[in-house]
Amino acid sequence: MKIKSAEFVVSNSDVTKCPKSSLPEYAFIGRSNVGKSSLINMLTSRKSLAKTSGKPGKTQLINHFLINKNWHLVDLPGYGYAKVSKSSKKVFQKFITQYFSFREQLVTAFVLVDIRHKPQPIDLDFMQWMGENNIPFSIIFTKADKLKPGAIIRHVADYKNTLLEFWEDMPNYFITSSTKNMGQDELLEYINELNGNIA
Ligand code: GTP
Ligand code: MG
Repeated sequence: MKIKSAEFVVSNSDVTKCPKSSLPEYAFIGRSNVGKSSLINMLTSRKSLAKTSGKPGKTQLINHFLINKNWHLVDLPGYGYAKVSKSSKKVFQKFITQYFSFREQLVTAFVLVDIRHKPQPIDLDFMQWMGENNIPFSIIFTKADKLKPGAIIRHVADYKNTLLEFWEDMPNYFITSSTKNMGQDELLEYINELNGNIA
C-alpha cells in the first residue's frame, strides 16, 4: 500500500471526543519511549507527523491521523512512566483503557516492545488485559537496528517462549526499525489486508 496522504486530525484525552467517522483505525501502544510515534512517522514516510522525543512521556494524548483519506492511525501515550502506580498492581492510564474498551472503530492494536529487552511484566500485564477484554493485537518489536541479526532471532525466540507460558499461540508479530525502515512494507500490507484493500 502506498501512503498518498497523512494528516493530523485531533488530539484529546476523552474517547467520546475521538473522530465520529466509522473509518477503520489502528492504534499503537506500549511503554513510554518504545518508539510508537517514531513508528507512525516511519510507516507514513513523514519525518515529524507524530511528535517524538528522546525523553519518555512525550505523547500525552490520543492522537488521530487520517491516512489516504480512509483510515486512521492512532498514537497513544506510553504506559510505565511517572503516573503508573507502584508495586505489583499495574494500572494503565484510565483514558487509555477507555480508548481500547469503547473505540468500536479499532480494527486491531499494535503493542510495541523494545526488542533489546527481556519480556517486561508491564507489557505482559497489558497484553493479558487486552486478551481478557477481547481486544485483538499484534506485537511490534522496535529498535531492531540496535541488535545484530543473530541476536534479533534469539530475542524473539525468548519472547515467544515467555508468551507461550501464558498464551496458546504467539500473537502475530513484526520486527521493525524506524531508523532503517525495517518492517514498513509488511505492516502496511497487513493493514491494507485488514482494511479490505480499500486503498
Ligand atoms: P512516548 O510518546 O513518550 O510514549 O514515546 P514513544 O513510544 O512515542 O517513543 P518515540 O517515538 O518518541 O521514540 C523514543 C526514542 O526512541 C527517540 O529518541 C527515538 O529516536 C528513538 N527510536 C524510536 N524508534 C527507534 C528505532 O527504530 N531505532 C532507534 N535506534 N531508535 C528509535
Ligand atoms: Mg510518542
